[in-house]
Amino acid sequence: MREPYRVVAAGLPERVTVYEVGPRDGLQNESVVVPVEVKAEFIARLAAAGHRVIEATSFVHPKWVPQLADASELLAGMERVPGVRYPVLVPNERGLDRALEHGVQEIAIFASATETFAGKNLNRTLESQFEMFEPVVARALDHGLRVRAYVSMCFGDPWEGPTPVEQVVAVGRRLLDLGCYELSLGDTIGVGTPGHVAALIGAFGGPEQLAVHFHDTYGQALANTLAALREGVTVVDASTGGIGGCPYAESATGNLATEDLVWMLHGLGVETGLDLPSLVETSTWLAGELGRPSPSRVVQALGPAPATDTNVKE
Ligand code: HMG
Ligand code: MG
Repeated sequence: MREPYRVVAAGLPERVTVYEVGPRDGLQNESVVVPVEVKAEFIARLAAAGHRVIEATSFVHPKWVPQLADASELLAGMERVPGVRYPVLVPNERGLDRALEHGVQEIAIFASATETFAGKNLNRTLESQFEMFEPVVARALDHGLRVRAYVSMCFGDPWEGPTPVEQVVAVGRRLLDLGCYELSLGDTIGVGTPGHVAALIGAFGGPEQLAVHFHDTYGQALANTLAALREGVTVVDASTGGIGGCPYAESATGNLATEDLVWMLHGLGVETGLDLPSLVETSTWLAGELGRPSPSRVVQALGPAPATDTNVKE
């Protein structure tokens, strides 16, 4: 079977924007440092598969994330398809300066909902992270950029346990008040469950300006996505082949796989504009480059059968 049966369910959006994070969240956590030409080809393949928003890389400290230390080189060389947005992650003014040098039009800042992770991921406190973000957002908006914001550890944190919903809402509201156009709720370590997702979106007063960003550590990412769609969310982050994770969060494994998400959405009759066979082909190609099989179940089901003693031709 190459595509899902289509059975439209009530109460879901007609269309979902898949915000592709594979080149950034995916590659930042791979043990292999992928050559810059492979990254450029990866991004070109994603655009050809129908993606309209592809998070390309990060302008973070290169020592903190060596996998993406070639961000400038990538942006200088990669093809830009008209109509496709290529946001980049930027934590501070130094990162913004580097992004502006390459004519970036959209950035994403990334905050923590918890004290411990703010320290580990940003070398800041929960409070002082805002001092870092405020000038970034103000200057980016002055330059006419769009600014997205992430909040990490929205459901739980490996050091602090469950994250209080009010704490997430307080951090998220402050980021939106800075002028960010969208807030992506990150389940960095994949511990959320669907009721928790609905409760969090409800605590924000509804889905306006919200996107969701699920890691699949405990196999909950698709169920959590469906819960978010039922609450009215229409932007879902996903990573080609399900690669990804945060190097500064213990137990953060792969993101929700784009192919698994697309299979579910197309089965539900929700439009994405994405071509599933092209996505699977790209993940299969990328798995070869990374030297490990794609974690995505749909890629495993639709990709070429792995070589065995009986089907390998001499
Ligand atoms: P710091 O050490 O506190 O930086 O790191 P600093 O401001 O004290 O500066 C120290 C030196 O670093 C200076 O150089 C700066 O110029 C340089 P010196 O003057 O000593 O020669 N520097 C930089 N160089 C290049 N680019 C920069 C930059 N900034 C400073 N941008 C910092 C603070 C925020 C930079 C650091 O903590 C960092 O880079 N953190 C990023 C960690 C990261 O990328 N984590 C993964 C992404 S987040 C994620 O995956 C979660 C998400 O997917 C959502 C979810 O799943 O929940 C988004
Ligand atoms: Mg992430």
